[in-house]
Amino acid sequence: MGGIFAFVCKDSIDVSIINKGLKKLIYRGYDSAGIAYLEDDSLVIKKILGNISKNEISVSDKARVAIGHTRYASRGWPTLENAHPLTDCNGKIAVVMDGILDDYEKIREDLIAKGHKFVSTTDAEVIPHLLENSTNYLNSSLNVMKRVKGIYSLVFVTIDIDKIFAINSGQPLMIGITQECKYVSSDLPSLSGFAENAIIMPENTVAVISWNDVQVYNIEGNEVKPEIKRVKYKEEIAEKGGFPHFMLKEIYDIPQALINSFNSLMEKYLSLASMIVYGAKNVYIIGNGTSLHAGFISSYYFSEISLNVNVVSAAEFPYYALKNVTTGSVIIAISQSGETSDVIRSIKMAKQRGAVILGITNSVGSRLALESNVYLPITAGPEMAVPATKTFTSTIVVLKVLSLYTGLHSGKNDRSEISSLKSEIEELAKQLMVRLPEMEKEAEKLAPKLDKESLYISSSGINYPIALEGALKFKEASMTHAEGIQLGELLHGPIVLTNKGYPVILIKPVEAEDLYNKVIRSIKERGDVIVTVAEDGDMKSIKATRDLTPISNVIPLHLLAYKLGVRKGLPIDTPPGLVKAVIV
Ligand code: F6R
Repeated sequence: MGGIFAFVCKDSIDVSIINKGLKKLIYRGYDSAGIAYLEDDSLVIKKILGNISKNEISVSDKARVAIGHTRYASRGWPTLENAHPLTDCNGKIAVVMDGILDDYEKIREDLIAKGHKFVSTTDAEVIPHLLENSTNYLNSSLNVMKRVKGIYSLVFVTIDIDKIFAINSGQPLMIGITQECKYVSSDLPSLSGFAENAIIMPENTVAVISWNDVQVYNIEGNEVKPEIKRVKYKEEIAEKGGFPHFMLKEIYDIPQALINSFNSLMEKYLSLASMIVYGAKNVYIIGNGTSLHAGFISSYYFSEISLNVNVVSAAEFPYYALKNVTTGSVIIAISQSGETSDVIRSIKMAKQRGAVILGITNSVGSRLALESNVYLPITAGPEMAVPATKTFTSTIVVLKVLSLYTGLHSGKNDRSEISSLKSEIEELAKQLMVRLPEMEKEAEKLAPKLDKESLYISSSGINYPIALEGALKFKEASMTHAEGIQLGELLHGPIVLTNKGYPVILIKPVEAEDLYNKVIRSIKERGDVIVTVAEDGDMKSIKATRDLTPISNVIPLHLLAYKLGVRKGLPIDTPPGLVKAVIV
């Protein structure tokens, strides 16, 4: 996955402007970056490891055609070999890609059998080899689009012709238009400062782009006339994909991240990971903060297959749980950053006692991924805001899939449940894409009601961890004290504070509906403030199957916490004194 930025111009311009475009796309990936440009009929390729905002690609040449990429490692480690651009065997074609290919392993095997030499372990490398020796790059691009499954977009250059070819197979690509140049980018805001108008490439199209012309073709090879939009973004929001805050942008990323997270899980690693869990003497699930809450949710999934798991904060684990860890124990360690010290320390200690470590992380090259015996990727894409949102919902997907696979070994689940889950996730994502703008408006209207000293968030069963997670988001994003509490427990004392005007956000549980109604009545008798999160609630959550309700219910809480933070004028993405990964 990653961000793409490219240009083709009438006259040579500074290649280094690619750095400027890529920096605006940093939210799409920051593990490595690279540029390819045409110089004297050959391709020059430069790559760096790490974040391009901190370390530009050093290039002083001018060129008429150049392509660039900033990478989020999802398939293959964050190494220079895996950094884009990737080339064919002859070094004549350079490709940069955003997205994930589903069936690349089979294509790669076929290409290797035909004599192609691969230098990386990333999925995107199949593309330049598929294009190798092409005599008609438009036809070859259409063939790539037909043959290679997945959700991706890509751009390539070849020494044969001073044009850029672009394929949109489900990931966004925009073409900025000026008199002298055409620019290609993964988003519209990053084109501000480069072009005033841009073509939005429709899905499943190929574009042939020269400095003075853009032709777009559908999968049948017929020319189409796509929409042209004005590019008008303030510099500070250009870096956030057009949103005022990364947190909001990342909430809007959730539907796609759910689909990507499901699709990125590979059968062979799931089989291995689930076999390890199934054969374990005892299972500990560890993590901190949001990752710990995802762990709590998974305990409900594992209990469906009669597997008792112990969910423990990674900060507490060494003091209490570690003593029961021996050979045969399995530690499922969750950390979106993969760098949290509590997690790393705990898994090192558990390893010394003979445990097997199953890591779950959103960062492929992280210490957690490296230290784990096997790891499963979260694939939510880079998350820039300190308050974690899309990584949480995607972690839930990974844990649900892991539990389903584990149930296959005991016969508690069958394969049809995996395809049903895929459809349920797709349906949820589809509805979310439509509903998110309305939900955002609902949250904005309700935020003033919650602008109090403190509040409760309450639910029951599989949605109780969502109350904990919502409370954490209120603290981080809106600097408001919030307490997550089980529904029934509200009546055992805490309700007394609702008299003080402490609002209660009630998340309608899947089971315990009678309890939910009783709590509503009890609070209303006191005339106190309630905000309900339910299909028919004040914040309308999307209908989902029981196991996906934590996802549909947490998003309204994300939005409420966000809107309260906006109302208070807070630095939502970077709450004072907090960092993304706690490594001390
Ligand atoms: C939540 C948050 C923290 C992290 C916690 C663990 O919004 O920012 O609570 O969830 O520090 O981080 P990871 O998952 O990176 O180990």
